[in-house]
Amino acid sequence: MNSNTDLHFALEAKYYTSPDLFEKERSSLQSKTWLFACHESEIPNEGDYYAFELCGENLFVIRGKNGQERTFYNVCQHRAHQLVKSKGNCRLIICPYHSWTYELEGKLRSGPNLNAVQNLDRDGIKLQQVKTENFHGFIFVNFDANASGMDEWFPGVRESLAEYVPDLPLLKPMQWIEIPEKCNWKTSVENHSECYHCQINHKAFSEGVIDPSTYDIQPQGYCLRHTTQMNKFEAMTYDVDLSIPHATDYTTFLLWPMFAFQVYPGNMLNTYHWRPHDADHCTVWRGWFSINGEFDEVIDKLAVQDRATTVAEDIRLVESVGRGLKSRGYKPGPLVVDPACGVNSEHSIMHLHRWFREAIEL
Ligand code: FES
Ligand SMILES: [Fe+2]
Repeated sequence: MNSNTDLHFALEAKYYTSPDLFEKERSSLQSKTWLFACHESEIPNEGDYYAFELCGENLFVIRGKNGQERTFYNVCQHRAHQLVKSKGNCRLIICPYHSWTYELEGKLRSGPNLNAVQNLDRDGIKLQQVKTENFHGFIFVNFDANASGMDEWFPGVRESLAEYVPDLPLLKPMQWIEIPEKCNWKTSVENHSECYHCQINHKAFSEGVIDPSTYDIQPQGYCLRHTTQMNKFEAMTYDVDLSIPHATDYTTFLLWPMFAFQVYPGNMLNTYHWRPHDADHCTVWRGWFSINGEFDEVIDKLAVQDRATTVAEDIRLVESVGRGLKSRGYKPGPLVVDPACGVNSEHSIMHLHRWFREAIEL
């Protein structure tokens, strides 16, 4: 690995454009990292399930007895029919094809005429499970059964997030905003992970939300932690209750590779998560959270402002980069790694690239 004094270059374009490398990444990086599934409020009761697609796999998360959340591949162990669609509630999971029936814990319970099958190892037939963890109500999955837990990947994040967002246990999604982007997901995550471009491109964010002069990003395990102060009180575009601890702080926890908790001044939680579709397309989801998911005017105003400014500005940037990476005229340039870090440094990108290389074993 390079030392801090060496020049660091951007990744070669092929890692953002090649369909073959995208497939390689799917079977390596995307198959052994923690990825966001859904918020627990999608499945409040026993038997509630929520189906979703992640990295080319159909999965569903279901709440079993004693409240336990499990994620299964959405495929019957008989002849591979899909088990459930969208969301709902069930006492047993019943395959629509031949009615094989599974317990909420994934065990095969019964099937028409199964008793006629000699030597059937019924106990050996169960739905295939995917490792699942609840992180403050956010359900994450990891395709790697041997993956270590999220607290090991992201040390201290669970505690800090609770400190910065005192209402966290009461929060539910108020709205999800879907943003399709014509670029590789890494282009979008990298753009999110440096603020070298902020003052040039995000006037509302740099002048009306945060103070760029104190901005920094540091790794914390496999988390990239952004910190800064809020802008001058009179410059803020919304009111902040200063009596709450951390009300004047801004922080983001990017949980490598594709999820971020962002806390705006005023202890306001919002999230990003990315879904890669192919080498050139991804979707970014912005989540906005309020107490019980009820409509909140301040949050709504902030979400609208964010969509019209930072998000719109970032789409133009990442899609331009997406096009540029396909140009024969591009050679990877050096990252601006300032040993003092700070807002105008890209040391955070250097860390992302290190994690990327490690994950795909470059
Ligand atoms: S494929 Fe599910 S019961 Fe036959
Ligand atoms: Fe940006």
